[in-house]
Amino acid sequence: MADTNPLPDWPCHLAGRLVPLGQATVSVLDRGFLFGDGIYEVVPVYGRRPFRLAAHLARLQRSLDAIRIPNPHDVPAWRALIAELIAAQEPADQLVYLQVTRGVALRDHAMLPGLTPTVFAMSTPMRQPTAALRATGVACVTAVDVRWQHADIKCTSLLGNVLARQVSIDAGAVETVLFRDGWLTEASSSNVWTVLDGTVVGPPAGPHLLDGIRVGLVEELCAEEAIPFARRPVSEDEVRLAGEVLLTSATKEVLAVTTLDGRPVGGGTPGPVGAVLYDAYQRAKATDRS
Ligand code: PDD
Repeated sequence: MADTNPLPDWPCHLAGRLVPLGQATVSVLDRGFLFGDGIYEVVPVYGRRPFRLAAHLARLQRSLDAIRIPNPHDVPAWRALIAELIAAQEPADQLVYLQVTRGVALRDHAMLPGLTPTVFAMSTPMRQPTAALRATGVACVTAVDVRWQHADIKCTSLLGNVLARQVSIDAGAVETVLFRDGWLTEASSSNVWTVLDGTVVGPPAGPHLLDGIRVGLVEELCAEEAIPFARRPVSEDEVRLAGEVLLTSATKEVLAVTTLDGRPVGGGTPGPVGAVLYDAYQRAKATDRS
């Protein structure tokens, strides 16, 4: 039967070798495949330069530590591997994906000692929201956050996020904003911010949301732009009444939410605080030396 979904032959790294993506295969006994027993990173690349790479590699280390996988590479080796992938890809703006699983072993829930972690890494062309979407802002829907209590670990066990994302796909929306016990956590693959009386407010760090690389960046950009910034619990009512709601992620950068469950956010158009942060983000891209 003809393959209806052919994979591009971009080079990727698998277990120390550079191979065409379509030919990169792992053992069925890889614990990433059996248990989702691994971690990952997604690093945006602009003009062939990875953005905020030091922060991404630090989070990769935190994720590995959290699930007790030894880091297979030191920072210079990760940087070299990433540079090789970027050089081999055509467009200047890319998205680097890094994944480390615990390795291959006969199926056993126990963290078997002595395994060789499987490293997979690829760089794909960057796909960002269109200019039209940025101009109008995006529709989001909400759902109860039913994920486990370790959303702070950037692990490959993402079924809860996949189910959450599908809620918005089914509704023709761009993201699913999640509430746990009536409190904002994040979205299926983005952090979420509200603008309340001119202050950018997001939920505090903790087990229920990812410590997005853009979380620290939003705080920095707010300081630069003299925009009041706070991290504290944000109730569902506050999100629904916020003047602006913003998404941040490696691909969305800073993206305005203009409808939530079909109702307008603020005036129903992208607001001024989001616009200032988006512009500041573009400047940060131009000057990043991480
Ligand atoms: N997602 N929260 C979740 C659940 C995420 O999956 C992501 C990123 C973020 C934003 O984190 P950062 O600013 O580091 O991109 C928040 C990536 C892009 C992904 O899984 O594809």
